[in-house]
Amino acid sequence: MNRAVSGFSKKSKTEKIEWLAANFLQNSPDSIKILESYWNEDASLQQLHDDFIENTLSNYYLPFGIAPNFLINGEMRVLPMVTEESSVVAAASNAAKFWMERGGFKAEVVSTEKNGQIHFNFFGKEKDIEDFFEAIKPKLRTSIQSIEKNMKARGGGLLELSLVDKSNILDGYFYIHATFETLDAMGANFINSCLEQIAQTFEEEAKNFEPFKQAATYPEVVMSILSNYVPECLVRATVSCKVDELTTKQHEGRYFAEKFVRAIEIAKTETRRAVTHNKGIMNGVDAVVLATGNDFRAVEAGVHAYASRNSYYGSLTHAKIENDVFTFWIELPLAIGTVGGLTSLHPLTKLAFEILQKPNAKQLMQIIAVAGLAQNFAAIRSLVTTGIQKGHMKMHLMNILNQLNATKAEKEKAIEHFKENAVSFSAVVGFLEKIRD
Ligand code: MEV
Repeated sequence: MNRAVSGFSKKSKTEKIEWLAANFLQNSPDSIKILESYWNEDASLQQLHDDFIENTLSNYYLPFGIAPNFLINGEMRVLPMVTEESSVVAAASNAAKFWMERGGFKAEVVSTEKNGQIHFNFFGKEKDIEDFFEAIKPKLRTSIQSIEKNMKARGGGLLELSLVDKSNILDGYFYIHATFETLDAMGANFINSCLEQIAQTFEEEAKNFEPFKQAATYPEVVMSILSNYVPECLVRATVSCKVDELTTKQHEGRYFAEKFVRAIEIAKTETRRAVTHNKGIMNGVDAVVLATGNDFRAVEAGVHAYASRNSYYGSLTHAKIENDVFTFWIELPLAIGTVGGLTSLHPLTKLAFEILQKPNAKQLMQIIAVAGLAQNFAAIRSLVTTGIQKGHMKMHLMNILNQLNATKAEKEKAIEHFKENAVSFSAVVGFLEKIRD
């Protein structure tokens, strides 16, 4: 069977589904029913979702939950979280409550600079490209006047342009490094539009530069694009208390604090641990990033590059005990927005902003960093005390029950039973078999 298709994007949604079912789905009527069952009955809401991407067939739901009791810089907040992973919201909520009773989270934005590059080839004399760049810099700036107009009026725009010579690592490779302030916008479109215009002006002007003409070597732009590596767009979140205040029914404060700090040191030293450690942080970060309609791939890429900035991959969080005070903090590069993109389109994203009391981008950076810190605190606390499986499997119980098609009454009985018994897939199967008998 020839399964290739042309003109697919021109087909209607129903035609696309029919084509898919005919060519790739074994059980077409059932598969079609699944796709259709996730359509929204409100046609305009469905159309809105259809238009987010190309070739939309249906909607893919993820749970939208909230974690309350986040005291951040003295303000109580509820965090909207979108994730498929059980335990994440519970862990965030527990950590929030724990720290609410110990002074809450402090967060500060360190810097908000974003950046992009115009990567180009140049095989002529270094001095010529340097002279050319200095000579046309003002023109490069003015060439983006119309793109920049609104952003500038609000206090943002292009900050600096500089020439970077990378020809020592790749023959003939140079780039123009451009830095931007994009205020409450993530700024991807703005930055990319500026870069493409600057690149065009750069190439046009090069044609008239005498030394290039004489040597018959002109710079040639390879590509212009923002960078998702944003170490100059940085936020820090911290919790801190006396070690004694960490004492709970489960553990003694100092012993816990020392073990906790040790766990962080391990994640700072050993990549195998650091990756999992940071993954746990991203459980919290991504959940809020997704709920607020931001680009979690951009955040992920930037954060992990930042975790490797010292030539090895290490922990994003830090902890210390000094003068009997335990301090635990995180530093994250975060390029996120509170205006533009999905933030003002998706009804649930708009609601997430309402839940968060309409933060600006700096406040959202702080909230997201706190979500990561809280998540990491909860994970390390479990890991160095009870282990994560006990709590995790309890939260996972509902997934197992759903997989086994348990009824409401069976679920209630199972929840009661597994309060005292260890959860495993086979234990839940056994329990259901017993009560079904
Ligand atoms: C699981 O999603 C996340 C953890 O593995 C994080 C960690 O190990 O720190 C629990």
